[in-house]
Amino acid sequence: IIDDSGHIEAFNKAAEGMFGYTKAEVTGENIQLLMPKPDRDKHDNYIKRYLTTRKARIIGIGREVQARRKDGSQFPAHVAIGEVRWKNNTRFVGVMRDLTDVKLAEEKSLRQHENMTNVSRLATLGEMAAAMAHELNQPLSAITNYAAAASRLLDLKKDNQKDIKSTLDKIDTQAHRAGEVIRHMREFTKFSDTARKSISPTILIEELKPLAELDAKAHNIVLTIDIPGNLPEIVVNSLQMQQVILNLIRNGADAMIDTPPQDRRLRLAISTEPPESIRIDIQDDGHGISDDVSKDLFDAFFTTKPNGMGMGLTISRTIIRSHGGEITFANNANGGATFSVIIPTRASE
Ligand SMILES: Nc1ncnc2c1ncn2[C@@H]1O[C@H](COP(=O)(O)OP(=O)(O)OP(=O)(O)O)[C@@H](O)[C@H]1O
Ligand SMILES: [Mg+2]
Repeated sequence: IIDDSGHIEAFNKAAEGMFGYTKAEVTGENIQLLMPKPDRDKHDNYIKRYLTTRKARIIGIGREVQARRKDGSQFPAHVAIGEVRWKNNTRFVGVMRDLTDVKLAEEKSLRQHENMTNVSRLATLGEMAAAMAHELNQPLSAITNYAAAASRLLDLKKDNQKDIKSTLDKIDTQAHRAGEVIRHMREFTKFSDTARKSISPTILIEELKPLAELDAKAHNIVLTIDIPGNLPEIVVNSLQMQQVILNLIRNGADAMIDTPPQDRRLRLAISTEPPESIRIDIQDDGHGISDDVSKDLFDAFFTTKPNGMGMGLTISRTIIRSHGGEITFANNANGGATFSVIIPTRASE
């Protein structure tokens, strides 16, 4: 409880535990003692402004703030403030809740989601490539061996037509086997096509919103999502589409790593793209794309990040093109970049 000039009058046991101060240490001290900068220097003005304008910014509303312990360390807290007027005196009662555990849990679930998208990304492209390489390797090395054997048999210049014929047959068999492997992989990709459904882009984005927002929050980014009403449906594999959009959001977030936190904005907007497509724009305030980078952006394993894999855009473009769409990008006039996904509203063949 503080008085109308911000000085502490009461401090309960829970508060002592939370901040590491005893009641005796803080009584009569300015409440700003419990705040880090910049709130610390502004708090007297906050009270003055409230007392003259009566416009509440936190009183009766509650807010997440950073709080400061006696040892100088900080922790996230939710604070609810109530006003008590008695005779001619005003008092403010603050109730604080330590959010450290809540934040940790949020971060943990974010990490888990991150791992999940990474795993599924590897599962799709990497594992498929590995399986294909493995299965093709056997018939291909068999073919090489048989071809060498046939060539040696010919060199002998003997009446060994039968042996040569049987070696060539073996080559034929192995070549067919390799063909089977490839046909099998084709079937596999066709199978993923059957997971396509007609869905409203609004629902698609609504579904990934919580994850995107968590991601944005973790990077101190303000994320705005603009979706007009009445959008036509698109026929897509929702999981793949969401993976693409999350990839683009993550790239935008990564690009703003050196942008001051208050300027980190990410905007996702959907619009219709005549004649028969919709367009999803993901606009960031990051470092933008230099001419050098713009040449290679979509190449497999191209990355400018210390921990990047350089596969995000490669996979995204493959997915979008398989839906009959396209990904484009441009630098914004006032800094940062915009990536755009165009998806036809009619099912692609
Ligand atoms: N929004 C953006 N702003 C600026 N540069 C970008 C943006 N998006 C991508 N890039 C550049 O393109 C490169 C390739 O992006 P891509 O998503 O393919 O790989 P990555 O993000 O480096 O790694 P990962 O495989 O983990 O996604 C990035 O390293 C970055 O240099
Ligand atoms: Mg990426």
